[in-house]
Amino acid sequence: MTGEQPEPATLVAFLDICLTVIDGGLRACAGAGHPQRPPPAAVEAEELDDRARRRSGALMRVNHCGEICAQALYQGQALTTGDAETRRFLMAAAQDEEDHLGWCRQRLRELGSRPSLLDPAFYAASLLLGAIAGSCGDRTSLAFLEATEDQVRQHLDRHLRRLPEADGKSRAVVQAMRDDEERHRRDAARRQPTVFPPMVKRLMGVAARAMTATTYRL
Ligand SMILES: [Fe+2]
Ligand SMILES: [Fe+2]
Repeated sequence: MTGEQPEPATLVAFLDICLTVIDGGLRACAGAGHPQRPPPAAVEAEELDDRARRRSGALMRVNHCGEICAQALYQGQALTTGDAETRRFLMAAAQDEEDHLGWCRQRLRELGSRPSLLDPAFYAASLLLGAIAGSCGDRTSLAFLEATEDQVRQHLDRHLRRLPEADGKSRAVVQAMRDDEERHRRDAARRQPTVFPPMVKRLMGVAARAMTATTYRL
């Protein structure tokens, strides 16, 4: 029986990708990333009562999980794109997401809250989704990115309405994230002006609501 042996260079590249993915997943879920920007300064820092603290903690846990998903989506797309320039664009945006992840993690600690138990599962699902989008080619991948960032921006607008007024620190973090996500959306749209099918957008909305509802409590 004869079988074709993989080229050593192909095998090395495959192992390199596997290690990159595993390392990225572990770092994202363990909070071992390296934010390059400090957390946004809050306009005011009031003492929060227990109810407000719990509410902020739950909302920031949702946002922390959302940033873990963003890491995985960008990684999946970057690993499967065939275009070096698109990969550079994706990795630059992924650095912003790493900042967001670090800011959310720090704010969770300050609020006495914790990350979601479901983070590893959502990381794996998002990585797969990103890899599928990337495998469909840059046109689809960037349209997917634009649609995702649009939904994330809308989600963060809703959280700005739900966060306690007194929690200036969390509000400053969410506002800065919201502005970055809108910039990512605009940059993706500029690169690839494509309208994503409304049906797919609705499905993405359902998946996002499932993540939001579960991680708020878990
Ligand atoms: Fe983000
Ligand atoms: Fe983003």
